[in-house]
Amino acid sequence: MTRRAVCPGSFDPVTHGHLDVIGRTAMLANEVIVAVGTNMAKNGLFRADERVAMLQEACQSWENVSVMIFDGLLVDFCRAHSADVISKGVRAAAFAYEIQMAQMNRRLTGVDTVFLPTAPEWAFVSSSLVREVATLGGDVTAFLPPAVAEQTVARVAAKLRGGSSSGHNL
Ligand code: PNS
Repeated sequence: MTRRAVCPGSFDPVTHGHLDVIGRTAMLANEVIVAVGTNMAKNGLFRADERVAMLQEACQSWENVSVMIFDGLLVDFCRAHSADVISKGVRAAAFAYEIQMAQMNRRLTGVDTVFLPTAPEWAFVSSSLVREVATLGGDVTAFLPPAVAEQTVARVAAKLRGGSSSGHNL
């Protein structure tokens, strides 16, 4: 399909749904860059460097996948790394917003977006719901890689105690 694809997101934290999309993109593209950004509309749980470390561990079995932080516009990151396309998983509930971003990105620099329909088993999973469920004491281990689940539970507990090292709020 393409030479170099970018899978962008905040990945706060990375879920099985994200990893499904990254893995499928890795089969379609020669090279995949997972671009870890910050969604200004969302309150974060993990710092960007923590999210990168979790993604690097979770993606280590895919040899053509690398993980980088980006700030500023996603389209500028794509241009700087000669990426041909943005690849995103899309849930029905978020489709309108995703289309809007894809159209804006294409208008800005011409970079196009391909959407992969989220795998049905992860269609209801999002990082923000995971953060909410974990904060309210629910079990999130089914939705996250084991190491990520462990860190998420620990970070939520630290935040609830008021002693987190991260500067973010839930
Ligand atoms: O996982 P998310 O929260 O859906 O990720 C959203 C993200 C970080 C990919 C998006 O907010 C983004 O691309 N931010 C970079 C700033 C930018 O390019 N804004 C214009 C979008 S049209």
